[in-house]
Amino acid sequence: MSNVARASLFSARPRLSLARSFATSSSLLQAVPAEKPAAKKKFQIYRWNPDEPSKKPTLQSYTIDLNQCGPMVLDALIKIKNEVDPTLTFRRSCREGICGSCAMNIDGQNTLACLCRIDRDVNRDSKIYPLPHMYIVKDLVPDLTLFYQQYKAIEPYLRNDSPPDKGEYLQSPEQRRKLDGLYECILCACCSTSCPSYWWNQDTYLGPAALMQAYRWIADSRVCCP
Ligand code: FES
Repeated sequence: MSNVARASLFSARPRLSLARSFATSSSLLQAVPAEKPAAKKKFQIYRWNPDEPSKKPTLQSYTIDLNQCGPMVLDALIKIKNEVDPTLTFRRSCREGICGSCAMNIDGQNTLACLCRIDRDVNRDSKIYPLPHMYIVKDLVPDLTLFYQQYKAIEPYLRNDSPPDKGEYLQSPEQRRKLDGLYECILCACCSTSCPSYWWNQDTYLGPAALMQAYRWIADSRVCCP
């Protein structure tokens, strides 16, 4: 190939890519959807500040555009904290129903904020409270000290004084299946704090979460009960 031919080949390239980039950007422009009208929804959220103990708890209102927010209640709380009121306090970590830290009472139900979809009806306010009948650390954060003490009291771990025959405690599929529905508990405290007996007697009653966990270890075939 002559030098002239090579040069004309190279000089043709930029024009080609320029044409291509114009085509891409114009088709992209066509693909951008028209902006959705705002869907303003009001959230009424329990507030209490331990630094002002004489002030009674209140419900504070926040309005956000659902079209500028993720689909879950935790998305709304994070948006409010990041963009509207950084003093709003709540727990969260995994945002996928694994850690249990975002448990709270949303529209009358104890649930995980990260798994709870926002009610898209903008004519209905969403009310968010901390887990009921618990002492409150701040806003949506309950004090779970007693709850964890109760969990600790059931000694939630495998206890077996006989060493395993083959270096590990073996379990048949049937024995393992007995733990289904038990081992999945993430200790979010939603069930215990929904329980009226626990509301009134939590100083003497372990509550459903700790009792279920106790059974989880009793039902485990690897545990040697005397
Ligand atoms: S953030 Fe972990 S369960 Fe919701």
